[in-house]
Amino acid sequence: MSSAVRPRIIAATSHAAIPAAVAALRAGDLVAMPTETVYGLAADAASARAVAGIFAAKGRPEFNPLIVHAESVAGVRDMATLTAQAERLAEAFWPGPLTLVLPRRPEGRIADLAVAGLSTVAVRVPAHPVARALLAAFGGPLAAPSANRSGHVTATTAAHVASDIGEAVAIIIDDGPAPIGVESTIVGFDGDRPTLLRAGGVNRMAIEAVLGERLAVLAADPGAPTAPGMLASHYAPMAALRLDAASVQPGEALLAFGQLPPGVTNATAIVNLSPTRDLTEAAANLFAALRSLDGKADVIAVSPIPDNGLGEAINDRLRRAAAPRS
Ligand code: TXA
Ligand code: MG
Repeated sequence: MSSAVRPRIIAATSHAAIPAAVAALRAGDLVAMPTETVYGLAADAASARAVAGIFAAKGRPEFNPLIVHAESVAGVRDMATLTAQAERLAEAFWPGPLTLVLPRRPEGRIADLAVAGLSTVAVRVPAHPVARALLAAFGGPLAAPSANRSGHVTATTAAHVASDIGEAVAIIIDDGPAPIGVESTIVGFDGDRPTLLRAGGVNRMAIEAVLGERLAVLAADPGAPTAPGMLASHYAPMAALRLDAASVQPGEALLAFGQLPPGVTNATAIVNLSPTRDLTEAAANLFAALRSLDGKADVIAVSPIPDNGLGEAINDRLRRAAAPRS
């Protein structure tokens, strides 16, 4: 990360805005970008480390899956499978304030952390010219939640972003107030049944008119999108997890944090989330680590991880992964 004074606020009309933002994103830093709905806190969606920076900046209590933004429908196809219904919605509403939750393509380059380990990905092609210019110049998908501190009011101006999370952001591109001011509408598909997961910028009747059917509604409160913990498909390894393990038992795999524990020679496989005990690095490595240890043992011993900062989110995910399966 650069040591320059943060955040650097650049007017969208400046010729420096897009090149500076692209350089920051390539360095793994965060850029706040205007979209037609709200300001987004963008990071390279392919970099787990950059995405971990989003969670650190927002102070999220858990790893909520993020919306991944693409410049075009072709860019969406690289990371997700568009069902027939999704194709119709994409045709009608993209670019624009609609997010679709779609099956993720395993060969896509999205970091597991961006989708919180889910087999689905929430994607959107934004209409805002600055967001589009940034996506085009960057040349890849950007993960971007709303650019506010978790639990705070959504940021619809550059000043909101600066006061909420400014110190964590390399660059804020200022294009004045976001035109729509509420987040995108989120539609998911439960099999063939299209479901409204969050009310937002595209109204429900317009979506139902295109689909020729009513949307099922999942969230009782339109402001409260599906908690990822409620999703049955939430990624959990096949192996059992033994949390807060002080040592490794014979036949166990080891998910370490910091110094390796006693009994490490017993381990059938080892992944260290962060030898230097850096929680941002550990968050970035978490989902890939669980994936790579799965199948190497029936039980994965997990070293204790401190509960501060991103550690809270890491421990939350580990507890979910360790919980008995139904
Ligand atoms: O307008 C918007 O959508 C803005 C701009 C920046 O694009 N973004 C935004 O992102 O509101 P965020 O992270 O604040 O909200 C995304 C919501 C989360 O609450 C998450 O639970 C849900 O989308 N979500 C993301 N991926 C999901 C998935 N695979 N399945 C179900 N819900 C998902
Ligand atoms: Mg939000």
